[in-house]
Amino acid sequence: MSTVVALQSVPRARGGLPLLGHAVHLWRDPLRFFCSLRSQGELVRVDLGTMPMYVATTARLVHDITTTHARSFEKGRFFQRLKPLAGEGISTSDGELHRKHRRLMAPMFARDRIVGYSRTMSRNALALADSWQPGDEVEMEQAMAEYAIETLASTLFSTDIGLPAVTAVREHLPVLLKNLLIRAASPKVLDRLPIRANRDFDAAATALRQVIDDVVTTARRTGHTDHGDLLSLLLSAQDPDSGAGLTDVEVRDELSTILFAGAETTAATLAWAFHKLATHPEVEEQVVAEIQEVVGDRPVTIDDVPRLPAIRRVLDEVVRLHGVTMLMRRTTAPVRLAGVELPEGTEVAFSLYAVHRDPDVYEHPDRFDPDRWLPERQAAAGIGRDTYLPFGAGNRKCIGDAFVYTEATIALATWLARWKFTPAPGHTPKEVASAVAHADRVPMIVTPRR
Ligand code: HEM
Repeated sequence: MSTVVALQSVPRARGGLPLLGHAVHLWRDPLRFFCSLRSQGELVRVDLGTMPMYVATTARLVHDITTTHARSFEKGRFFQRLKPLAGEGISTSDGELHRKHRRLMAPMFARDRIVGYSRTMSRNALALADSWQPGDEVEMEQAMAEYAIETLASTLFSTDIGLPAVTAVREHLPVLLKNLLIRAASPKVLDRLPIRANRDFDAAATALRQVIDDVVTTARRTGHTDHGDLLSLLLSAQDPDSGAGLTDVEVRDELSTILFAGAETTAATLAWAFHKLATHPEVEEQVVAEIQEVVGDRPVTIDDVPRLPAIRRVLDEVVRLHGVTMLMRRTTAPVRLAGVELPEGTEVAFSLYAVHRDPDVYEHPDRFDPDRWLPERQAAAGIGRDTYLPFGAGNRKCIGDAFVYTEATIALATWLARWKFTPAPGHTPKEVASAVAHADRVPMIVTPRR
């Protein structure tokens, strides 16, 4: 019989300070800090100021939290701190509200819809490819952010009604994301301090909410209900039992949620993919040969996506290496985790970034090696859904995973068929911890491939 130990026996992470706890490590270098916890235990206590949170340091434990014990967890503190940005959208809400809205939004991310979006994705990718001139130096991090936001906005809103929101998201989202982790990892009392990070966060969240509110009001007024986009779906949604629709605030919260959850993650993945390909010429050669064989010069379609497995391996490896920095949950009932009895109300955290660099699961975990995703190597390494979960798992799993794989594959195939990307001299991209570990800058020179 396994022994159950009490919460007090969980090891406390090294380097805590009086009053501040480990907050300074989380502010300064969260990626290294999370990776350092693995050697200290499977479950490790970290203090945010004086508030303890318990960090799961293995993928298997994260899998237990998100699937086996999902019913005994709510999203907790991190997501509450996101509410100025995402309100009660599906990434922050819990229980019945989450279930109801997730069910409502699921059709927008179903296969038939993604087939429709894929045409927009391909069109947007071609437009960007056509905008480059030979020898241009392109800030890929920024170009990818614009591509991701524009693609999300044109699939979510489908008509010009969303244009003010796209502009506002471009301006405000980077500010919000930059300050998000600091805010989530800080004691709540710090929210009210009149420091720059708080002022910027509050101003950007208010501005973004206001613009999306205006879009929703205009859409209601002009009867925007049958455009086949997410905005129409939300505006015309009806509860099957009560017949009630969503309020304008609920519609706004879901739109903001998708924009904030889908923009930076996609942009960071694409920007890293370019950097990795440029610094691993043997992988780039394989990817480009596959694109030339499968697609050639024509526009990329959704039917090409499964026929480009080398791109898929690159994307799988990029999201493994530069994934989501930190997520949290709170127990709603007592839960036994790694042999420890967690009482109701315990804050639990995990870093997908850190668990995907676990040397017990991944050989040379810091190495970019897309071929580790070849079926035979993956099987030999025993990597499965309980050890590789870049999109989370269970009822809170990412709703946009198929969307992003389609979008990123189409985009990479479109651009790599036409252009060669070479790192601009003088800068090596560095990781910056935000919602994901994105690159600070990825400046590249584009030259025509043929
Ligand atoms: C490479 C890109 C992406 C990564 C790595 C990623 C990762 C994740 C992860 C790990 C979660 C689970 C969070 C948790 O368990 O607390 C999540 C949730 C979510 N993601 Fe993504 N995501 C990506 C792209 C997208 C896109 C493109 C969209 C929308 C179009 C999106 C929308 C969402 C939403 C709405 C949730 C909340 C789901 C819920 O709680 O029911 N994501 N994502």
